[in-house]
Amino acid sequence: MLKTVNFDSFDALINDAGKRIKFLAEAAVSSKGIFTMALAGGSTPAALYLWLSCRENWNAPWDKIHFFWGDERLVPLDSELSNYRMVNENLLSKISIPPENTHIPEVSLSPEQAAADYETEIRNFGTVFDLILLGIGPDGHTASLFPDTASLQEKQKLVITVPPPTTAQPAIPRITFTLPLINQAGNIIILATGEEKYQLLNSPDEYPFKMIENAEILFTLKK
Ligand code: 6PG
Repeated sequence: MLKTVNFDSFDALINDAGKRIKFLAEAAVSSKGIFTMALAGGSTPAALYLWLSCRENWNAPWDKIHFFWGDERLVPLDSELSNYRMVNENLLSKISIPPENTHIPEVSLSPEQAAADYETEIRNFGTVFDLILLGIGPDGHTASLFPDTASLQEKQKLVITVPPPTTAQPAIPRITFTLPLINQAGNIIILATGEEKYQLLNSPDEYPFKMIENAEILFTLKK
């Protein structure tokens, strides 16, 4: 079930998302010593990553937290288009986290090899993420699962390559978590802001983000 929680302001949404992550991470670390989280691209997550990096908000046990990327564009890691670069700029470069805790996709490989290697890394590590963070694109995509594409039919693989999307920018090949991987996560939080996303949330159309089985959508009309 998708449950939408509404906020009056962008700051209230970010603050709540940050506190949810803090709560989930502290609970996971105290019960099993580790918290695994998949990160998303987009401008809303960028603000959340800054919140997480701030010690006044949370003195996090970074050595017990492992980050993966729910999707990544196959561009160099220092590219303006790289989700890794955005996460690094807003979070990783501001905290002290062991390098082995950041599971960065190998973007220099062929798309098929990059996806296969990332799947192997996830299978070796554990396929049930404590938290997967997602966004919603203007075309209703989530992670890099685009509308009316074969990626939505994948039943076996955990990570796949997708060709450059025709419904969203940038038109660059990507790798992405699949629905079977996403839907087994312990928790899924989707961040969405603005009028365009409001229309998607309230439309009867079957957009990719609506194929997520259980998630909380944190939403504000304000950007
Ligand atoms: C992509 C984007 C995309 C993003 C949404 C929401 O690769 O196409 O990263 O998936 O999640 O466009 O972005 P905002 O948070 O900026 O609305």
